[in-house]
Amino acid sequence: MKKLMAANWKMHKTYAEAQKTAEELVALVEGKLPADREMLVVPAAPSMKAVGDAFKGKAGMFSGAQNVYPADKGAFTGEISPEMIKDLDGEFVLTGHSERRHVLGESDEFVGEKTAFALNAGLKAVLCIGEKLEERKAGEVQKVCDTQMEAGLKDVSRDIDPEKIIIAYEPVWAIGTGEVAGPEEIVEAHGFVRAKLVEIFGNKASEIRILYGGSVKPANCAEIISLDNVDGVLVGGASLESESFSKIVLA
Ligand code: PGA
Repeated sequence: MKKLMAANWKMHKTYAEAQKTAEELVALVEGKLPADREMLVVPAAPSMKAVGDAFKGKAGMFSGAQNVYPADKGAFTGEISPEMIKDLDGEFVLTGHSERRHVLGESDEFVGEKTAFALNAGLKAVLCIGEKLEERKAGEVQKVCDTQMEAGLKDVSRDIDPEKIIIAYEPVWAIGTGEVAGPEEIVEAHGFVRAKLVEIFGNKASEIRILYGGSVKPANCAEIISLDNVDGVLVGGASLESESFSKIVLA
């Protein structure tokens, strides 16, 4: 299983800035990326072409979108379709990121609709899940992950190519806070996610990648990706500079 090292640039970078960082990443990573590793960069939608062009034809380097709407086209102001993403060479899409759930108010069910629609349209989906601090304090980590996975994967075909669906476990309290979940917390949550995947997808669950996200940095990445059931990382803040993200990708 190839480890997936993913950058989520959120609402950062103009087109020219995205182009510059993507080109720097190619220069830093090309020729060094192990065969069992993939790099994914997910810029804001207006910069998707910049990243797609920079990574075109580069082995193991992919771009994706931060959002998708579950329809082919129509009167959905501000939204983007899977075709639009693919047209700009995007191969992946994030669904259910905590900021979309908690800032933009997306429900578990809507996240599930988007995930299935994106997969059916030929994109790979990174379904993000994770508990808020008050939920962790209340001992509800597994309950939250269970609910978000049930709804998020509800309409995903049980025959899916396991390479196409990825789960990112991102405890909300660790996102952008500098606070990383400890190794035991990560291993425990990822073990639960793997068991839930087995319940849903049977024996192909072992081939589905589970990423960790939440304050991943060059200094902690190697340890995190060495943990059981950690098949890559999803990185926000530390992915914005090419130097820093390239160290994570090659950690
Ligand atoms: P962070 O963000 O690395 O800045 O904590 C992670 C994410 O939101 O995907």
